[in-house]
Order: sequence, then C-alpha cells, then structure tokens
Amino acid sequence: MICSVNIKRAFYGERQVLKDISFDVEEGGILAIVGESGAGKTTLGRLISGLYRFYPLTYEGKIESRATIDVIPQNITDSLDPVFTIKDQLLEITDDLNHIKNVLRTVGLKPDEVLRAYPSNLSGGMRQRILIAMAILRANLIVADEFTSALDVITKIKVVRLLKELNRSRGISLIFITHDLDLLDFDGDVIVLFDGKILERGRVKDIKSNPLHPYTKFLLNSSPKLDLHYKNYRFKELNIDKSLACPFYNSCEFAQDRCRDVEPKLKRRGDRWIRCHF
Ligand SMILES: Nc1ncnc2c1ncn2[C@@H]1O[C@H](COP(=O)(O)OP(=O)(O)O)[C@@H](O)[C@H]1O
Ligand SMILES: [Mg+2]
Repeated sequence: MICSVNIKRAFYGERQVLKDISFDVEEGGILAIVGESGAGKTTLGRLISGLYRFYPLTYEGKIESRATIDVIPQNITDSLDPVFTIKDQLLEITDDLNHIKNVLRTVGLKPDEVLRAYPSNLSGGMRQRILIAMAILRANLIVADEFTSALDVITKIKVVRLLKELNRSRGISLIFITHDLDLLDFDGDVIVLFDGKILERGRVKDIKSNPLHPYTKFLLNSSPKLDLHYKNYRFKELNIDKSLACPFYNSCEFAQDRCRDVEPKLKRRGDRWIRCHF
C-alpha cells in the first residue's frame, strides 16, 4: 500500500469536520472520494497530501504515506507563477529536459510551443495540462480535487482519460475527489463521504451495481448519465436533519426508531463498508 489513512477526528480550529476516516490506497490503485459540497472532500485531500499544514487544520490519528504526492487543485488560476516561463518552472522540478518533453507530449502539449511561453500565453486547458505534467514529473500519487470543474467537457474527458492511462502505463496512483459521479468508470475503490463521515466504501463496480446505503443510491440515481439498473429505487424526498443520529432518518423508507437515536457505526460487509443499521 502506498498510503494509509486513519483519521479519528479533524478540526478547523475548534470545529470538527471529519470523523473516523480510515482507508488504504494501494500502489497503482485508483480511489474516488465522492460526496456533496461541504462533505469534507477537499479537507481530506489536504490531509492526505500534507497541505493541511497551510491551513488551520489539525487531526487526531495517523496518516502514513510512502508516496510522493502531488495535488491537482480545484482552482488552477493562481498555481503557476506568472513571471517565469513554463520551462523555468518545469526545470525547478527536474533538470532532465528530455523527460520533461516526453511528459509534455504525454499530456498532449507541444514542447516547443509551451516551454518558452509564460502562463498568461496559454489557455486554461493548457495550463491545466501543465499542472498535470508537473504532478506527473513529481508524484507517484496524484490527488485530483474537482480538477475538472474548470474545464470544458471535451478537455475534461481527455484529462481523465490521460490520468487513467498514466495509472495503467506508469502505475501512478490516483485519488479523484469529485461530486461528479460520471468519473466512476474505473476499476478501483470509492468512498462516499457525507458530513465528514464515510457512509459507504467499496469497489466501484460493486457500489454501482448494488449500492447499499440509501444516500449512495440517492447520489447515483441523481446522476442522469449513469444508466443503472436500480433506477426505480425510490428514496423519499431527500430530507436531511444532521441533529438526528442518522441524518437520513426522515428520508429513508427503512428507517426505524433507533436510526433517530443511535448513531450507526461503519460496519463491514464482505469487502464493503457501510454506515447503516440495516
Ligand atoms: N480553511 C477553512 N477554515 C475553516 N473551515 C473550513 C475551511 N475549509 C473548509 N472548511 C469547512 O470544512 C467543511 C468541509 O469543507 P470541504 O473539505 O471544502 O468540503 P468539500 O470539498 O467536500 O466541499 C465545510 O463545512 C467547510 O466550510
Ligand atoms: Mg472541495
């Protein structure tokens, strides 16, 4: 395994934002962390990558990693230094110019064009590819946090395809942090995060073919492009009350009294983990 995460709790100042997050990333593996805005995905990415040091973010627990980790951040606009050429910035990472050129070609850029350019000379999609090239040059684990949100659909498809190709050909491990469930078409693991907790965790193919947690079903059902056979599953209107032991008590057709009163723990079922009494 390349990275092992055991977070009991994480806080911004006094405010707890993550609870009981445990998982491993296998060498050469792909993990997706999905969930709605505010679930704690970016926070988890910051902890995994070590970037938490730049935030008022602390944690109890243990995060072990023997990876060189790089993050493709959500916001790309200010990540490249405007006053240096791309060449200068890439040479900061490695002085092997041939290797740099190869990686640039791999991400679909023409080295001759981009190396002498300044960031402002390049389109958003090209800058994104530069950042991906930087990540590849540096990292054997890439954390890609909602990185597709700034891209048009075509570029997004290309970049995702490229990352998966790099995973296959170079064994680069990937963590996709996303609310976009269309990304879930790879052989790997997925974690469904809600309100700082893991609700369900398992293999992508198992979760897609048979989601167990009602919220996972709701999430997958609300993605129109995933053509899934449990389409006719009916989650009552999503009605969340975080003051209840299970916040989905009011939405779930299986709910019973103890869902309201006793917080469900994350339980193992085969190679699946699920936070539900049933
Ligand atoms: N720098 C910060 N300081 C304080 N609270 C933060 C900070 N960044 C995020 N949070 C809070 O932590 C929670 C999780 O946020 P985040 O990890 O960004 O979620 P996601 O990426 O899933 O949208 C949210 O309630 C958010 O308001
Ligand atoms: Mg985020």
